[in-house]
Amino acid sequence: MTLDTGAAAKVLGGLRPYPVAITTVDGGVANGLMSLSAGAASIIPEAPRATISLTKYNLTHDMVTGSGIFVMHLLSAEDDQIEKSLEILMTLGGSSGRDGDKIGKLRTRQGLSGAPVLLDAHSYVEARVTGTLDVQESSIFVGDVIAAEILNPGRRLQIGEAWEKLPAEWIEQYDANHVPQLESARAHRFTTVL
Ligand SMILES: Cc1cc2nc3c(=O)[nH]c(=O)nc-3n(C[C@H](O)[C@H](O)[C@H](O)COP(=O)(O)O)c2cc1C
Repeated sequence: MTLDTGAAAKVLGGLRPYPVAITTVDGGVANGLMSLSAGAASIIPEAPRATISLTKYNLTHDMVTGSGIFVMHLLSAEDDQIEKSLEILMTLGGSSGRDGDKIGKLRTRQGLSGAPVLLDAHSYVEARVTGTLDVQESSIFVGDVIAAEILNPGRRLQIGEAWEKLPAEWIEQYDANHVPQLESARAHRFTTVL
């Protein structure tokens, strides 16, 4: 039976509706990206864990691998915060830290681990990596939550609402950036022997 990729896309699409801003620091350099892969990863309420999946193509992947630290931020959907949320999304998700500093453009303070906390985010959890699963084109990181805070209470931004509000030129640029990322992922998937 051939794989019905349309059905697979319907089953798997939209399972994680909240875009998150991931930041880290490695060797004194701070960076971050946007991700739609965030999740909770423990049933123990007093010992929470978070998980993210990062593509090896992205600089943040190598930095989280190196430092073992990530801060996962939710963004705000409130009227007085939405512009800041879109700014974070476009800054971190629109270009690579390899092409220039992104964190310096955002309002931050240092978290417990030294990684930047985005002050205009809705909220965050800061985590130390406790396990990493290498799956060819990407790595799935699970981290123990060491700090958590609600910075700007209210509704959390979902990706559907964000796409409606993002400028068309930015979406075009994002789509263009996605092409080499996808090529790299395919190359890893179909040439790596586990
Ligand atoms: C909404 C959205 C979701 C994304 N989800 C992921 C993801 O789950 N994993 C990932 O590695 N990259 C994801 N990206 C892509 C990175 O954010 C993007 O490639 C970024 O420029 C990488 O920056 P870096 O090279 O500085 O790490 C997403 C981007 C957007 C805008």
